[in-house]
Amino acid sequence: MKNPFSFSGIVEDPAFCDREKEQTDLTRLIENSQNILLYSHRRFGKTSLINRIFKDFKGVVTIYIDLYGTTSIEDFITELFKGISSVESKMDKLVKLIREKINSLTVNFSIDIYTGAPVAIPVFAPVDKRPAIDEIFALLESLSQNKKLAVAFDEFQEISKYGEAAFEKHLRKSIQRHNNISYVFAGSQKHLLAEMFANSNRAFYKLATSYPLKKINTEDYVAWIIRLYRKDKRKISKRYIENVVSRCENHPMYVQEFFFNLWDVPNISIEDIDRVESNILKNREAEFINIWESLTLNQRKALKLIAATGGKNIYSANNLSRLGFRSASQISKALELLLKKELVSRNDLYSIQDVLFKRWIEKIS
Ligand SMILES: Nc1ncnc2c1ncn2[C@@H]1O[C@H](COP(=O)(O)OP(=O)(O)OP(=O)(O)O)[C@@H](O)[C@H]1O
Ligand SMILES: [Mg+2]
Repeated sequence: MKNPFSFSGIVEDPAFCDREKEQTDLTRLIENSQNILLYSHRRFGKTSLINRIFKDFKGVVTIYIDLYGTTSIEDFITELFKGISSVESKMDKLVKLIREKINSLTVNFSIDIYTGAPVAIPVFAPVDKRPAIDEIFALLESLSQNKKLAVAFDEFQEISKYGEAAFEKHLRKSIQRHNNISYVFAGSQKHLLAEMFANSNRAFYKLATSYPLKKINTEDYVAWIIRLYRKDKRKISKRYIENVVSRCENHPMYVQEFFFNLWDVPNISIEDIDRVESNILKNREAEFINIWESLTLNQRKALKLIAATGGKNIYSANNLSRLGFRSASQISKALELLLKKELVSRNDLYSIQDVLFKRWIEKIS
């Protein structure tokens, strides 16, 4: 059997593990036309989850829009048209739909070279984009008249970087009127998203139900991985799966990367898992060195302290002097910047976001 694990891009069956509860919760919210803010740290599986839910959604028309890499309202509109194009697989129908509803922009049509599907491509003149946005959202509304619609904006935080303050307000106006559309706003840059949706001065304040995506439970990984090995007429001990999952602190992409590398090993031992871990760390070393060298001395010390203590009692006099901090304010300033860089996160305790980066820091400490 081909290696079923994959640690890049969207994963689908058989590389998709569980998330039953998330699928049920989100499906119910979408069917009730609720707006959702789906967020997590990087590579937890937001896009894969949206893809899984949207793929065979019965009774709801789904539109997926990827805002990654967009830097302007023009890019945003272009991606919107791309998303809307996915609703019609026949060129003549797509042309008719767009021509009927969009007057403020010229729209060309083409065939996507990868999928063979028709795509609408807007042509921009240096004019006010607002009418076009209104028309596109009116088009979405008209699509939702006969059938419920779900529209996902992935990497939604990007819009806050366009440098157009009025744009969010403008979007809100359309979005809040749509009763038969569920908007899913997904992203990973927590501070930007939190600022957009939780700050009462911002346009998207309380516009969506928050749905933080958690890591996957150990039992679910165990059941999924045993099933994949069984399909290949092989056995794997639960103990080894638990060992890997715990090294990865349940992070979906790292669990996949470990098992991708372990798949061809006939009888897994702890030494094999150690070897895979050290190879993965080696592959990431250049990247980690880059990050490390971009940090100040105090930020490095703060990371070492979190790695050594698991985030517990980092302000204790003992711990501060252990790493040569002269005052608590020195470390709190360093932590604040590490939080901003999203290298560190804070729930009850501070923790290093990337578990492999943490292991690398442990190794160099
Ligand atoms: N349900 C899942 N089961 C197993 N592995 C998963 C699952 N979801 C995600 N992964 C792993 O995580 C990786 C990243 O998934 P995905 O791109 O969906 O995450 P994301 O949260 O959208 O990431 P980003 O923050 O980069 O947008 C996948 O390539 C896969 O290795
Ligand atoms: Mg994603």
